[in-house]
Amino acid sequence: MATPLPLYLDCDTGIDDAIALAYLVGHEGIELAGIGTVSGNVSAAEAARNTSALLRAIGRAGIPVAIGEHDPLHGEYDGGAPHVHGTNGIGEVELEPGADAVAETAPEMLVRLARELGGQLSVLAIGPLTNIARALELEPELPRLVSRLTVMGGAVWAPGNITSFAEANIANDPEAARIVLGAGFSLALVPLDVTLQHRFDDDDAVRLEQRGTGLHVALGRMLRRYIDFYEQVGLPRESPLHDPLAAAIASREVAGTEVRKVVLEVVLDGEERGRTVPSAADGVESPAVDVVVGADAGAAEAIRRRIHSLAV
Ligand code: BDR
Ligand code: CA
Repeated sequence: MATPLPLYLDCDTGIDDAIALAYLVGHEGIELAGIGTVSGNVSAAEAARNTSALLRAIGRAGIPVAIGEHDPLHGEYDGGAPHVHGTNGIGEVELEPGADAVAETAPEMLVRLARELGGQLSVLAIGPLTNIARALELEPELPRLVSRLTVMGGAVWAPGNITSFAEANIANDPEAARIVLGAGFSLALVPLDVTLQHRFDDDDAVRLEQRGTGLHVALGRMLRRYIDFYEQVGLPRESPLHDPLAAAIASREVAGTEVRKVVLEVVLDGEERGRTVPSAADGVESPAVDVVVGADAGAAEAIRRRIHSLAV
C-alpha cells in the first residue's frame, strides 16, 4: 500500500465538518497528523470539544487536537451559526467528551508539523482562514513547507450563502482569506460553485442511523438537523457536502473535473465584504490558485462509502 498522506486539518466543527472528519478517518490513505480548530460555526474551544468527542466516538482519541484563534484578524467572533448547526455546533447531539486539547495552539501545531514533515504535509482548511494567516506570521516560508493547501470557501461565480456575495468561511475572516489566498501556496479552492452540486439527503440520514453504532447514529441525527435547516430556508431537503467534498478532493480520492486557474481578490469593504473576485492569471503579480468548479459525479458515493465502512 502507498504511504499515507500526512494531513493537518483546520476546522470549525460544525455538522459538515463532522462528516468530513469521519470521511478522513475512514480513508486509509490519510494520516491525520493533527487537527486545529478555529471560531466559525462555533467558537474554537467548542469546535475542539466537538472534534475530540467525535474522535473518541470513532475510536481515534489519540489524534491531537489544538485550539486555535477565537477572534478573526480584525474584530471579534460573532457567535457562530446556531441556526444552521445547532447551539453546540453538532445539531444538539450529545457525545461523550473526548481527550483534552494539547497545549500548543493550532497555528503552532501547523507550523511544527510543516517543519517536521519537510514539504510532505498537506493542509485542509474547512473553516475561516484565521489560523492559517496566523501560522504565516509565525513561519513566512509556510507555503514552501506544505505540499498542498485545500480550502473549502468562497463563492466565485456562484452567489454566496451568508450574503448574496460572500460564503461563510471567507466572510467570517476576509482579511485572513486575502492573506492566505495571496501567500503563494499550491492551493485548491473548493467553493460553493462546486460544493452545492454534491449532496446527501434524508436517505443518507436513515442509512447512517440504521448502521447502528453510536457514531453513525449521531452523524445521522446531525445530518437530519442540517437538512432541516435547508428546508427551513426554502431549499430542497438535501445537505450540500461543503466540507466533505473538500476533504475528498484533498485526499485525492475525488478529482476536479473542471478547475480554473485564477488570481482571487477578496473584497474587504462595503456590502460585498467577503466576496472572492476572480481575475485572469496572466499579467497579474499575485499568485494564481486552482478553483474547483466541477468534481467527479461519484463524490457523494465515495464519501458515503468511507463513512459507512468505519469500524467503530
Ligand atoms: C462552510 O461554512 C460552514 O458553515 C460550513 O461548515 C462550511 O465549512 C460552508 O459555507
Ligand atoms: Ca466548516
